Amino acid sequence: MSTNIVIAIDGYSSCGKSTLAKALAQKLHFIYVDSGAMYRAVTLYFLRNHVDLHDHAQVAEALKNIHLNFHSRDYQTHITLNDEEVSDEIRQMPVSDNVSDVAALREVRHEMVKQQQRMGRSKNIVMDGRDIGTTVFPDAQLKIFMTADPKVRAERRYKELHEKNPDVTLEEVFENIAHRDYQDTTREESPLVRAEDAIILDNTNLTPDQQLQFALDKIHALSEP
Ligand code: DC
Repeated sequence: MSTNIVIAIDGYSSCGKSTLAKALAQKLHFIYVDSGAMYRAVTLYFLRNHVDLHDHAQVAEALKNIHLNFHSRDYQTHITLNDEEVSDEIRQMPVSDNVSDVAALREVRHEMVKQQQRMGRSKNIVMDGRDIGTTVFPDAQLKIFMTADPKVRAERRYKELHEKNPDVTLEEVFENIAHRDYQDTTREESPLVRAEDAIILDNTNLTPDQQLQFALDKIHALSEP
């Protein structure tokens, strides 16, 4: 019987899921897996290779040529796409603007979910995404569903992006977040919904330390009789 622990963190775009997931993994010495990075890397491959998203055969064929790997250094996500480090490029706007369309494709989701489940089979992990507590690990020991005011989320993301790309505007970032929320919650295949047994964490007015404490308290409560 497997006794490994899985912590599933889901929620809206730019909610600080990865900040919390990384901090928890570091504190608990768990492996951190950023499932969104996988959808982003697939999107990058599709953009570079002009894959037609409406052509199911082309999508399935392209997926066979994609090999993703995570390398964890200091709990930062480093992801390779066919052995090329793409961690920075997958955060840029061209990928952000197209990733929800790619993540809505059934073939893509099936392949990513399969790979994610393999990662959680024998190790203690914290995984963040949109369908981790509902589809990937419905039996996760702890599920957290994160949310925050969309304006606050756009401001946080804008600050991060603006450092690397001064041309990006706050409106553009806000639009992108609103669009992704819409796409993620309305798509047919595994839409973003809160698992019934997930704990809600609204971090609009919380610091990263406060949200970490909130999650740690929930984890400690698991082991109480
Ligand atoms: O977490 P993120 O913003 O990096 O995710 C990028 C996109 O990937 C997001 O718009 C939704 C999608 N995604 C998903 O559909 N399922 C996941 N488990 C993770 C991300």
